[in-house]
Amino acid sequence: MINDLWYKNAIIYCLSVSTYMDADGDGIGDFRGLMNRLDYLQGLGVTAIWLMPFQPSPLRDDGYDVADYYGVDPRYGTLGDFVEFTHGCKQRGIRVLIDLVVNHTSDKHPWFQDARSDPKSQHRDWYVWAKKKPKHADDGVVFPGVQKSTWSYDKLAKAWYFHRFYDFQPDLNTSNPRVQAEILKIMGFWIQLGVSGFRMDAVPFVIAKKGAHVSRPTEQYDMLRTFREFLSWRKGDAIVLAEANVQPKTDLEYFGASGERMQMMFNFAVNQHLFYALATGDSRPLTKAIKATKTTEATAQWGQFLRNHDELDLGRLTTRQRQTVFAAFAPDPNMQLYGRGIRRRLAPMLQGDRRRLELSYSIMMSLPGTPVLRYGDEIGMGDSLHLPERNCARTPMQWSTEPQGGFTKNKKPTLPVISGGAYGFEHVNVAQQRRDPNSLMNWMERMIRTRKEAPEIGWGQFSILQTRTPEVLAIRYDWRNNSVLVVHNFSATPREVRLELGAENSGCLVNLLSRENSDPDASGQHCLILEPYGYRWFRIGGLDYILKRSVT
Ligand code: GLC
Repeated sequence: MINDLWYKNAIIYCLSVSTYMDADGDGIGDFRGLMNRLDYLQGLGVTAIWLMPFQPSPLRDDGYDVADYYGVDPRYGTLGDFVEFTHGCKQRGIRVLIDLVVNHTSDKHPWFQDARSDPKSQHRDWYVWAKKKPKHADDGVVFPGVQKSTWSYDKLAKAWYFHRFYDFQPDLNTSNPRVQAEILKIMGFWIQLGVSGFRMDAVPFVIAKKGAHVSRPTEQYDMLRTFREFLSWRKGDAIVLAEANVQPKTDLEYFGASGERMQMMFNFAVNQHLFYALATGDSRPLTKAIKATKTTEATAQWGQFLRNHDELDLGRLTTRQRQTVFAAFAPDPNMQLYGRGIRRRLAPMLQGDRRRLELSYSIMMSLPGTPVLRYGDEIGMGDSLHLPERNCARTPMQWSTEPQGGFTKNKKPTLPVISGGAYGFEHVNVAQQRRDPNSLMNWMERMIRTRKEAPEIGWGQFSILQTRTPEVLAIRYDWRNNSVLVVHNFSATPREVRLELGAENSGCLVNLLSRENSDPDASGQHCLILEPYGYRWFRIGGLDYILKRSVT
């Protein structure tokens, strides 16, 4: 299927308009504010922005409860401001992906209001109803402890409606052809306004069969092909980045056996096992997850990430593994969420240890796929655990030492800016890190640049090299007659490894991050001594690699 493959070597940065920058001083971030920060993002080196929901919404789930798919919430600006924003991005070579939340609407959406008002209403069968409380009503809740069931009674409708998530998020009946047509219309609308695709929310639920009699999840994968075809026909560079936390064996269903479905998916399997490796030093389960999620189609690409706006879901680890990660990174029950995850930001989880932060980002940026960064992580922002659920890791961006971290002139920002302590804006902010050559932010900028200069990682074939040391993971990438090698030591103590690269790669390894190259010994092996949490990025062969890069 026709597609511009820009996403294979992109750097994606995720942000929420409401907490990024407030230009009009009402305490809520807006598109004008974000526009003013595009030079910052360009300087950092990101090539795509993933915008979290900004459509009109009662904001009971941070905008994931949409009340109008064709607008901008007036708190953030107007459609005009949005187009100015996508234009500003285009001028800087930055693409825009937006969240597409079509598994459900807000209960305040006019469609739902119409649907509940009358069984004969035009939108009645846009939602999922039952006359009696379904047998499985208490099964399958996504937010255990906060959400009680997946069916609720609506007095006006005199019927039960299905909601996979909170009760104020009625599920759309996505099997209804009219709903499917509307989803395409929504995509077409935003594409016309300049976006290059969508981060599609909760994809397994969007394509699931829904209804009172459905007891086993059944996915209608063909819907994915329909979305993909529509995007390719309308605009060849538009992609879907799917949020689908599924078992590796079903990945192929989402990408499509010949790459005809989703272009990108978040790699939840690797994410969870990466945190296990960071917690224990043992990289073997991570290696397994990387191998299990190997893609075969050239168009299919993983989004690799560390933290996002949700909890760090550890549901795919074994109970023992999960408890180990909890013990290392979230020992206090208040740091955990929904019985399966951690709600903290990365920096406090790693106790602000610069070595471990660098290790984490270095491995994330060099895993097979495209890195997805979260706003504020580039400066090591912390969390506010007194805020409810996932809000703790959604506080305003810390720009400077000015009041409210330079986010707003208003005294009452949307969510309180983190102030005081090790992660307060007084210590952790962009303005100070900008001027410190050794800051995490400047390190990140250099790593992003290095990553962009190593397209082998995004495009190439990978192989895991034998290190015979569980704490050290070595991945090799080959692409167009060029090769890159990345080595990470997850251990708190130094490790020595010997690597065999084969007779055809008998030359030196050029270090991409420092001047310490590695020469093979007499037997042709490379002996690397890695400091605690040490990492290396090498080019195999000399720096004349560009001259050797082939065209296919
Ligand atoms: C996704 C989002 C999450 C939201 C949920 C319901 O999981 O990432 O933030 O609460 O969908 O829309």
